[in-house]
Amino acid sequence: MAFLHSLLVLLPLLASACAQLKAPNANLPRPPAVPPVTGPDGPVYHSVTGATLPPLNTTYYFDQLIDHTNPKLGTFKQRYWHTWEWYEKGGPIILFTPGEGNADGYTGYLVNRTINGQIAQQEHGATIVIEHRYYGETNPFSDMSDKNLKYHTIQQAIDDLEYFAKTVKLAMPGGDSVGPAEAPWVLVGGSYSGALTSWTMVNKPGLFRAGYASSAVVEAIVDFWQYFEPARQYMPKNCSADVEAVISHVDTVLTTGTTSQISQLKSLFGLSALTHADDVASAFRNNLWDWQSLSPSTGPNGTFYQFCDALEVKNGVSASASGWGVDHALDAWAKFWNNGYLKNLCDGESIVDCLGTYDPTNPLFTDISVGNDYRSWTWIVCNEVGWYQDAAPTGVPSLVSRLVQPAYDARSCSLFFPATFPEGSSPLPDIAQTNVAYEGWNVHIDRLFFANGQRDPWRAATVSADDHYVPSTPQQQIAVSDGFHCSDLSTANANVDATVKAVQQQALKAIHGWLQGFVPAKRELVQEV
Ligand SMILES: *[C@@H]1O[C@H](CO)[C@@H](O)[C@H](O)[C@H]1NC(C)=O
Ligand SMILES: *[C@@H]1O[C@H](CO)[C@@H](O)[C@H](O)[C@H]1NC(C)=O
Ligand SMILES: *[C@@H]1O[C@H](CO)[C@@H](O)[C@H](O)[C@H]1NC(C)=O
Ligand SMILES: *[C@@H]1O[C@H](CO)[C@@H](O)[C@H](O)[C@H]1NC(C)=O
Repeated sequence: MAFLHSLLVLLPLLASACAQLKAPNANLPRPPAVPPVTGPDGPVYHSVTGATLPPLNTTYYFDQLIDHTNPKLGTFKQRYWHTWEWYEKGGPIILFTPGEGNADGYTGYLVNRTINGQIAQQEHGATIVIEHRYYGETNPFSDMSDKNLKYHTIQQAIDDLEYFAKTVKLAMPGGDSVGPAEAPWVLVGGSYSGALTSWTMVNKPGLFRAGYASSAVVEAIVDFWQYFEPARQYMPKNCSADVEAVISHVDTVLTTGTTSQISQLKSLFGLSALTHADDVASAFRNNLWDWQSLSPSTGPNGTFYQFCDALEVKNGVSASASGWGVDHALDAWAKFWNNGYLKNLCDGESIVDCLGTYDPTNPLFTDISVGNDYRSWTWIVCNEVGWYQDAAPTGVPSLVSRLVQPAYDARSCSLFFPATFPEGSSPLPDIAQTNVAYEGWNVHIDRLFFANGQRDPWRAATVSADDHYVPSTPQQQIAVSDGFHCSDLSTANANVDATVKAVQQQALKAIHGWLQGFVPAKRELVQEV
């Protein structure tokens, strides 16, 4: 009975932990992450013939090259999933990777629960979900020590997509002759994989006939303080006023307070075990990171809104736009933490393992096992992209403590990968090289559709950044909904938010047009003869 009870309590927690793709340590920057969407269980039926197709979770394996610059090094198994529910001869092949995580649980990206399946349904195409190298079970090596991560680069991932498209023999009828020369391929991605969509189309012109990039973080940025700006602008005004007031108070205490004032603050939030002030300061970011898991279909039920309600509703009355002020907000925030938030966040770990980032023996840094996706993602962060989610610059209102600067986040690179980044260095990634190679905001590619969300915390790294104008053109369209991160990938979101629906409709129309001119290379040869 007790077991059953704890299982019932656990289930919803597991489901929400899954959807949020949290970092293993609650003080490290969040990856951008495509929200999982699962497909229906059981067999699928072909839309025209009614033939029974394999269940969506049937796993296929592709022999991928370990090193595209040296094919002699051999191959490893890359997992993918595939269905041809809507496929008719001549239709497009729609390829998608969820990017920086285990691709199990993404079968919804094979069917019309997502834009991928909508494109397939409209164009009579087939769909594929492929697991990105070094995530989930797709790994060339049996552990992720520094030396084994050598082939974990954006360029190798782009080359994977090319080699897969040109080489794979799909299980569907005729699936051995639908390479990109014979059939139009459409690359779809969201978040990091949305960026990968843009970067691949820049790097391999002509390989993909069209692309759909949702919340695509095309520009690598080290000090990504703008991450918190959409939350600050679109959250309830009273809540942002009070968060700013509390954070400013926390900074004053942590930088100029007496020892006893500092202990008192830590103890109020259950953080007495933390010895470094910046770990304490960083912990407050967690409530703001919750903004990332909002979507139109969760509506006002998300944890982020529960947090604002906890701060702003006192005896059934909401504060005015200026909030209640620091005295009430500090206590209310602490109460919210101690009423389950911190416990849920740390999920049985000690406070030091959960929120401490200084101990090199923390399992966070020493676990090099395959499937430790956060480690794998951190390798890309430390080497190529950055995106440290930190305090706003001086003079700009900040929801995050000024003690949290890129050096705080970058320091963990040496703890994760001591053989690559010597201890004591605060290595910053070579983002200039990334932005030059793949063109970042300067992308200029035909038949690429960018879909963004006005309230997406990652918007400042996309082509819809406020301070970086990128024009929308008929060949490279940019459409913005009121949504959050990758909201427009999901059909459920479109069903509750007309602006998301409008973005999807515009994309379906654009992609339909872009597929029209496709001429298979082989047929072209025949016609010339
Ligand atoms: C696929 O899903 C079904 C139903 O949930 C399950 O019984 C089966 O074991 C799964 N197969 C794989 C390969 O995961
Ligand atoms: C989505 O696909 C299912 C079949 O898998 C079909 O029954 C349904 O009508 C489709 N939804 C829409 C909106 O077309
Ligand atoms: C104050 O906060 C409450 C609770 O989050 C919210 O519903 C309300 O809209 C906010 N009011 C203002 C003026 O910001
Ligand atoms: C929010 O939660 C309430 C109560 O559980 C539910 O009735 C409502 O449908 C939910 N709203 C959304 C948008 O999920």
